[in-house]
Order: sequence, then C-alpha cells, then structure tokens
Amino acid sequence: MRLDPSASHCAGIALERLWPVVAKRYTRHKNRHRLAVFNQALQQDFARLFDCMADLYSDQWDFYFHLEHSLTQAAHAWMTADVDYVVYSAQKNQWMESEQTIGATGYVDLFAGNLSKLHDQIPYLNEMSIGYLHLMPFFDVPEGDSDGGYAIKDYGKINPLVGTMAQMKSVSAALHDNKIRLVLDFVFNHTSDQHQWALAAKAGDPRYQAFYWLFRDAADKAPYSPYLRDIFPDKRSGCFTWNDELQAEVWTTFNDFQWDLNYQNPEVYTAMCAEMLKLVDAGADVIRLDALAFTWKQPASNCENLPKAHRLIQAFNAFLRLAAPGVLLKSEAIVAPDEVVKYISADECPLSYNPNLMALLWEALATRQTKLLIAGSQSRSELPKHTAWVNYLRCHDDIGWAFADADAWHVGINPQDHRYFLNQFYTGQFPGSFATGVPFQADPKTGDCRISGTMASLTGLEQARQTQVPTEHATQRILLLHGIILAFKGIPLIYLGDEVAMLNDYSYRDHPDHQNDSRWVHRIGFAQTGADQRTIDKTPQNTVFTGLVELIDLRRHHSVFGAGDLCVLPSVAETVYAFSRCHQGQRLLVLANFSERPCRLDMDQCFKLGLFEAALDLITNQQLDPVKGVELAPYQQLWLLSGQ
Ligand code: GLC
Ligand code: GLC
Repeated sequence: MRLDPSASHCAGIALERLWPVVAKRYTRHKNRHRLAVFNQALQQDFARLFDCMADLYSDQWDFYFHLEHSLTQAAHAWMTADVDYVVYSAQKNQWMESEQTIGATGYVDLFAGNLSKLHDQIPYLNEMSIGYLHLMPFFDVPEGDSDGGYAIKDYGKINPLVGTMAQMKSVSAALHDNKIRLVLDFVFNHTSDQHQWALAAKAGDPRYQAFYWLFRDAADKAPYSPYLRDIFPDKRSGCFTWNDELQAEVWTTFNDFQWDLNYQNPEVYTAMCAEMLKLVDAGADVIRLDALAFTWKQPASNCENLPKAHRLIQAFNAFLRLAAPGVLLKSEAIVAPDEVVKYISADECPLSYNPNLMALLWEALATRQTKLLIAGSQSRSELPKHTAWVNYLRCHDDIGWAFADADAWHVGINPQDHRYFLNQFYTGQFPGSFATGVPFQADPKTGDCRISGTMASLTGLEQARQTQVPTEHATQRILLLHGIILAFKGIPLIYLGDEVAMLNDYSYRDHPDHQNDSRWVHRIGFAQTGADQRTIDKTPQNTVFTGLVELIDLRRHHSVFGAGDLCVLPSVAETVYAFSRCHQGQRLLVLANFSERPCRLDMDQCFKLGLFEAALDLITNQQLDPVKGVELAPYQQLWLLSGQ
C-alpha cells in the first residue's frame, strides 16, 4: 500500500526548500530584522496557503512555480511594508466586534468631489463617529460606462478625475489618524476589457488569452450556458459577449465590458495577488471581495458559490495573512442566505454584508408584519468567533429580495408571490404604498426584479413631499431601520446621503452612461445644501441626522451593543420585532414597532420577552415597568436596558 504524505507534511517540505531562497534576498535588507518574525508566521500559516493552492492548482504543470511566486510576493510585501507586522495576532481585529465601530460607505467623487477634498469631509464623518469607511472603487477605468468604477483598467493608477496615488496615501493616513479604517474594493471576478491583459489578449497573445474565458465555437460553451442566470437581464441575455478582434465569445457575467477572469489558470491567481497588494499599499484595512460568488466556473453548474470559489477565497485569505496580517477580507455575496454564511470564517472572509437582514427589514416595513423578519433572522444571525456581519439598509447597489424561500414557506408566505408584491410595493405601484423606488433589471422571462432608490424615497419622504402630507412617518421609518442595525450584532453601515434623508435623483435618465442603470437614482452627489439642512431645526434632514447621531452615541456608550450575545425573540405581536443583547449581567431588549399604529404590550407579552422588571429605555431615558405594560408609538423603538 502506498502511503499518501499528509498535506501538512508536504507543506513543511516545500517550505524547507523555499525558505532559503526567500531569506537570501533579504540578508542585507534594511528591514532584515523582520525576517525572523516572517519565518514564524510561515511556520504557522504557510500550510494553509499551500493546501489551498494545491487543491486548486496541483494538477497544473507550473504549480510549484506559482507557489514559490506567491511566497516571494508575500515576503516582499512583509519586508517592505511601511508598517512593521511584528504583532502577529488576531487580537488586533477586535475592533470589528466593538460597539465603537460605525461604518459608512459612498463614492469619493459624489461624497467629496475628489480625493484631496475628502480630507475636508473627515469632520463630517467624525460627527457620526464613523470608524469604518468603504469607498467605492476609484481606480483607472475606461471613459463612458464603467459600471460605477467596477470595470478596472489598472489598480496601480487612480482615476485622474478623482486624484492621484499620492493623494490617496495622504487621505488614508488622515483617515487612520482619525481612527477611521479604510475599506477598498477588490474587483477580482473581472477586469475591464481595456485592462492591459485584455488588450494583450485581443492583440493575440495566448498567455493573456488564457487569463480570460474565450469560446471559439458554440460547442465549447454548451457545458456552461444553459445553467447560468442573467445578472443584468435588462441589458442583455446570456453571459457571453462576442469580440471581433478575438473572433470568440468572452465570458462576461456582468456587463459586456467586464471580462471574467479565469482562475483555473494559476497565473491569474498570482497576478491578482499582486493587484490586491496595491490596495494594501493604498492604505486598505479591509478588502471587500466584489462579486466573489462568481469566481469559479465548472461545467453543468450555475457557476455560483462553487466549492472551489471558496477555496480560491481561502487562498487569497492565506496569502494576505502572510503578506499583510491585520488586513481583513469582507464578502460581498448577495446570494441565498444559506450560501452567504459559507463565505464567513476567520480563514475565508471574517466580514460579510448581511443581505438577509437587509431584505427582511424592508419586507417588514412594507407588510407591517414581522413574522418573516423574525423567522429569517432568528436562526441565521449567529456567526463563528472573530467574524462579524456588516448590517446595512442601502448601498450603491439595488435591493434584491435575498431572503430564504424556506423561511417564507415556514411562516405561510409564498416566496415568489411575495417578491412580486415587494417589487410592486417599493416601485409605488401597490395601492397605498409609501415608496417611490425604481425597478432594477426587471426580467420578463422570470418575472424577477430588484429595487433602486434612496432610503428617504423608499420610506415615503419623497411621496410625502409631493402630496404635501406630514413627513413624520417617513423620518420615523428611517430612524427605526437605522436603530435596528445600530442595536444588532455587527458593524452598522450607513450609506452616505441617507443620514440626511436625500431623495432620489432622476437626472441619471439624461446621462448617456447611466440611463440604462437605475442604481444611479440613489448614487447622488453629496449636495452641500442637503447636508447643511441637518443643522436647521425641524427639517426632515435635521430630524434624521440628529436622531441618528443620538442613536450612534448611545450605542457607543454601552459595551452590550458590541460584545452582547444576540437573541431574536419569538413574536408577541404582529407588528413588533424584538431581540435581546446580553453581556456580563446586562440585558438590552430592543422592541420595534413596524407600524404607523401604536401597539400596546401587556404584562404577559412583556414577560414572554423576558422583561420581568423595570428597565430603562436608553432612547427616551424613561424607566418602564412591565407590570403596567409597554406602549409603543407608531414606528417607535425602545432600547430597554436592565441589569448592572
Ligand atoms: C458588485 C458591485 C456592483 C457591480 C458588480 C460587478 O456586485 O457591488 O456595483 O455592478 O459587482 O462588478
Ligand atoms: C447581483 C449579484 C451581486 C451584485 C448585484 C449588482 O445581485 O449577485 O453581487 O451586487 O447583482 O446589482
């Protein structure tokens, strides 16, 4: 019988052979003192990189070359970094589970104008105690439509309209001085068709043709095409784009100018590791893995969430742990909840968007019923240690109804019909709807659709303005949803502009590069006037902004919001969502009324929620006694604290 050597044994031998090659390069380097710590890090983590790369590439003739190349790239990054990575521990990442961390996200140009003006916006971010800032990609892109920056030509170069790399570094230093962590996108599923690799491929270089997925005849793509869904069905059908220069079809999951990379080629993996390091160099503390679900393709599969896509991300994680420990990966998997969680672990993505909670909060707001929100968040909110949700309500993308069908059936809802209702509701077509959203990528074939629109327009402010009715309910809805993500476990993420209740901007319809993409309705220039209104008493902007800042301050004053265990409680009333956070003898009970009607909970209902004794509502600073029952005003939330 032949004994297979264990993977760790092989990794050990590979490292023994490679280490002298690496070490030799740095014997005279000014940072040579770092070598010993790097060696320790390798003893701990090289096997992981080896395993992942072996799983993906060991059957390729040049596997060993790429393994060595990865190691030398990681060594170079470590040895030449501006910071000394001598503290080699996961402890550094406690910030992500802290009540102090408040997130914001936006576009540099829309929020500030350009990179150098971003400095001037730091005080504004400080007003909201922002400690995590995700900036949409601002790298070099082709002129015209670039999918909002997600079709990258060159990671080493900043879009000249936004600034320069030197300005980027100065901004990231300023953000760090203000204790704001920087999150940058790694758009690694595809490049622009103007990227130098794509240009070389088009010019006939077979080496770069192997960077992408090219199909010369229909039979080649037959094992794939019947299984794929259309991501942008509004724009075209199918995931392939004909290219004249190549006389071939190119795999393009998103837009026709975004060419999917071929990760079955190990050279693509190592080349993209080098690109990722440019984000680290620009100052990233967190790297958001864009569209990560689509990165591995396999015949007769839908090419989403495949096991090897996970392996690939783990390989990037292992590489990053060696090259720049402390920099974390964040998952952008806007897929079914059961798939979303598979990306989340310390060895894959410690951070992830929470699209399930996001969709369910909007669902409950439309229906004034919390049963699906409860069912969907009850069993799906717990995460492994040293990982965290990023809880959000809006972002630069659309809202997709990414709740689990099983959860809907479980509470007696037909998921398909319900998604149809939600789309009708949020596009304002359902009678009595308060929302003025815009459909995104309606697919007549499947009946599927997603929703664009700002928080304020989707919660009724735009309609209230048009019909000249009071804006109170809209602003209450905005604060209700934000309150929940601020009290939930994880990092709350504010979409910049929502904090001052910005309305939809329909001018994208006149913009040739934007008019076929309704997401631009909520990608709005940070009009100074809109932000200024926050200081004018009684404007909706003022109500929302001051309300939000108060909630943020409360969160940051109580450690239970950070470390507290989360428990989503069973339903006691149709419109009420309740959850608790418990930490070191303290219990925070959050009660939220998703209706424009008041709701009274009697003593029994309070007892069912575990509220047995008087508790302090942090928001109104009032003591409430469950024996007397608790009254929730329209859209009111209570943050009831008890214990020491
Ligand atoms: C991600 C981005 C989205 C973009 C897509 C393709 O989902 O968030 O804006 O269109 O990837 O890069
Ligand atoms: C799809 C993708 C998601 C992307 C979105 C862009 O939902 O799954 O990754 O953000 O399209 O609208």
